[in-house]
Amino acid sequence: MGYEAKAREILKSMTLSEKIGQMNLGLINKENLNDMLEAFKQGKYGAYLTYEDFSDQRDIHNKIMEASRKSRTGIPVLYGKDVIHGHFTVFPIGLGIAASFNPELIEKSFALIAEEASSEGIFWTFAPMLDIARDPRWGRIAEGFGEDTYLTSRMAEAAVWGLQGRNPADLGKQEKILACPKHFIGYGAVEGGRDANTVEISQHTLMNVYFPPFLAAMKAGAGSIMSGYHDLNGEPVSASYNILTHMIKELGGLDGFIVSDSGTTSQLVKYRYSTDEKQATEIAANTGIDMDMCSFCFEKYLEKLVEEGKVPIERIDDAVLRILKVKLRLNLWNREVEPLKDKNKFTLSSEAKNISVEAARQASALLMNKESSLPLSKDIKKIYVAGPYAKARREYFGCWCLDGVDHVVEPVIDILKRKLDNTEIRHLDYFLSERILGKDDYIDTVVYFAGEDPDRSGERNNIANLRLPEGQEEQIISLSNRGKKVILVVVAGRPLSLVRVIPHVSAILYVFHPGTGGPEAIAQILTGEAEPGGRLPVTVPVSEGQIPIYYNPIQVRSDRPEHLKYNDITDKPLYCFGYGLTYTDFKVSDIKVDRNEIKKNESVRVTVNIENVGDRSGEAVVQCYINDCVSSLLRPCKELKGFKRITLGKGESKIVEFTLGEEELGFFDHKGDFIVEPGSFRVFVGLDCENTIDTYFTVLDE
Ligand code: NOJ
Repeated sequence: MGYEAKAREILKSMTLSEKIGQMNLGLINKENLNDMLEAFKQGKYGAYLTYEDFSDQRDIHNKIMEASRKSRTGIPVLYGKDVIHGHFTVFPIGLGIAASFNPELIEKSFALIAEEASSEGIFWTFAPMLDIARDPRWGRIAEGFGEDTYLTSRMAEAAVWGLQGRNPADLGKQEKILACPKHFIGYGAVEGGRDANTVEISQHTLMNVYFPPFLAAMKAGAGSIMSGYHDLNGEPVSASYNILTHMIKELGGLDGFIVSDSGTTSQLVKYRYSTDEKQATEIAANTGIDMDMCSFCFEKYLEKLVEEGKVPIERIDDAVLRILKVKLRLNLWNREVEPLKDKNKFTLSSEAKNISVEAARQASALLMNKESSLPLSKDIKKIYVAGPYAKARREYFGCWCLDGVDHVVEPVIDILKRKLDNTEIRHLDYFLSERILGKDDYIDTVVYFAGEDPDRSGERNNIANLRLPEGQEEQIISLSNRGKKVILVVVAGRPLSLVRVIPHVSAILYVFHPGTGGPEAIAQILTGEAEPGGRLPVTVPVSEGQIPIYYNPIQVRSDRPEHLKYNDITDKPLYCFGYGLTYTDFKVSDIKVDRNEIKKNESVRVTVNIENVGDRSGEAVVQCYINDCVSSLLRPCKELKGFKRITLGKGESKIVEFTLGEEELGFFDHKGDFIVEPGSFRVFVGLDCENTIDTYFTVLDE
C-alpha cells in the first residue's frame, strides 16, 4: 500500500483530539519531562524539540519514542532539532559553505550531518536556511547561502538531497533525516537589518528573488517547510493564506507539511492581528499551518474551533494527512532510536575530517594577496601569531551549533607550528608583546587572526557598525606602523567592512566561521599545501551607508547615472559577489554561443576557454551570468545562471560549457506565470560578477 492510502487508513481510525495532537510540536526540558512523557503516551504531540543537554539521561529519546508508540494510535513522535550546519562534526556556516560554489560538497556535508544526527534519534532538522540576505547588519545572514537566488537554489537542493537522499524512498533509511527549509518567506529583508523586524518586498522581487530557492528545495523533495515569525507586506507570514496555502502548497507543490516558527500563532495577538489566542489559532490553522511550533495554541483551542465549525474538519484532515505521509516516508514506525552518545569519547572519522577540512578550505576566500605574501615563504625564520582567534576552537563553529564537539579541533597556531617546523612561531595571549615586536630585527611577519565571536551573528545579533570588533583594528594598524608585514585571517559570521585595515595588511583570507575543519584548512592555505577555494557569496560593502548593496539590482535604464552616485563615498563594493583570488592566475577567453537565435522552449550552449596562466595548478570557479536586455518587467542588470569549479594544471586550458534554457531565461510575471520573453539576451562569463567577457543571443518570438 502506498503512503497516501496508508495515511488515509490511519487517519480514519483517529479521534479529533488525536488528529490535533499530530499538529502540535512540543518542547521538552528537564522540568517538564515527566509531564511530557505522559502527554506523548496520550498522543498529544506529533513532534518535539529540545535545546537541553540530556547527557545525563542518554536513553531519553528512546523513552519518548516508546511512549508515543504506546499511545492508542501508536503513531511515533518526530524528534526535530536545530542541527543547522553540523551535529558533532561542524561544517562552515551557511554563508561559508556557500562560498564553495560547490553543491556536491554541500550534499556530502549534509549527508554526514544527517548520519550523525539520526544516530541520536534526531530524524528532522530545521535546515537548510534559505533566506536571501542583502544586509550584513542582520545577524542571521550567517545562516543562509548569501545574496543570490541561483546560488541559494543550487545549495538548497543539494542540502535537501544530502539530508533526505535523492529519491523519495531514501528518506526511510536509518541515516537519512527530514529537511525543513526555512523561513518562508522574505525574512532576510527585515528592515534595517534588525532581526524579526517588519518586511516589505514587491511582488516581482518576492517571486523572482526570494521564492525560487524554496521552489528548488520543494522540487528536490523537501518534506517540510518552516514559515517565519516576521511579517511581510502587511501580514504575519505564518497567518497568510496567500503565503502558506497558495505559495507553498499550490505553487510550490509541497509534498509534506508546514510547521510554523516558534510561537508564531500566539504572537498574532501581540501583532494585534487577532484579539486573542483562540482567534489566532483559527487564523493560523485556516491559512495553512499544519503543525504549530511551541505556541501551545493548537492544543488549547483547535478542538473547540472545529466543534464550533470555525475550522473545517477537512483542513484538519489535510494537515494530519500531510504529517502522516511524511512520517510514513521516514519509516518512523521502525526506526531505531539509539542512546545519546558520550561526546567526550567522540573521535573524528577520517571521512568527517576530510569533508570538514575540504568544506572549510572551499569556504575560505582570499581577498587580497599583495606581492604574493601568501603562501608563507618557507624562508621566513620567525612569525608572530596574534589576534583573538589564533588559539580558538569552539569559536570557529559559528552561531548555530548545539552539539559540536570541540576537543577534536586543534587550534590553528598548533597546526602552523607543526607544518612550519623550520620557522619559529611566537604568540602571547591578549596583547602585542613589546618584547617580541619591539626589536626590529626580530620578527617581520605577523599572522593576525581577527574576527567575530559566534554570538555576534545569528538570531537577535544585529550590528550597525560593520567594522571588526573594538580593539582589533587598532592592533592591526599598530603592527603595521611598527613595520610588520600583516597577514590577516578573518573569522566571521558576515561580510565585515575592512576599509580601515586594508592599507595596513598584505593579505586577507576571509574564512567565515569555518567549523571543525577550519584550523587545518586555514593552516594548509597559509602554508601553500592547499589553495584558498572560496568565492564570495555576498557583496562586501565599503560602508554601512551603501546598504543594501548587492551585485544585481534591477538595471536602472536612466540616462542619469551620475544621479546614482554618493558625493562622499564610492558606490562600488569593497569586494564583489563571486570574488576570490587563487595562488595562480586564469584567463577566460573566446566566449561563444552555439546558436545566435533560439525558440522560447529551446536552449543555448555557451562556451569559453579557460587557461591557467600562472605558475602552479589551481581551481577556477567559472561563473555564467545573463541579462534580459529588454523585458516587460525590469530585470536585474546581471543574474548568475551557472557556475563550475574546475582544476587546471599549470599552462593547462579547458573549454567550459553552460546551458541556458527556459528555467534560466524566464521569470515570474505579475500574474504569477513563469515566462520567457523574446528578445536579446546578453551572456557574461568570468571569474566573478565584474570580471567577465560577454556575447549576445536572441530568443525568437514564436
Ligand atoms: C526560531 C528560529 O527562528 C528557527 O530558525 C529555529 O529553527 C526555531 N526557533 C527552533 O529552534
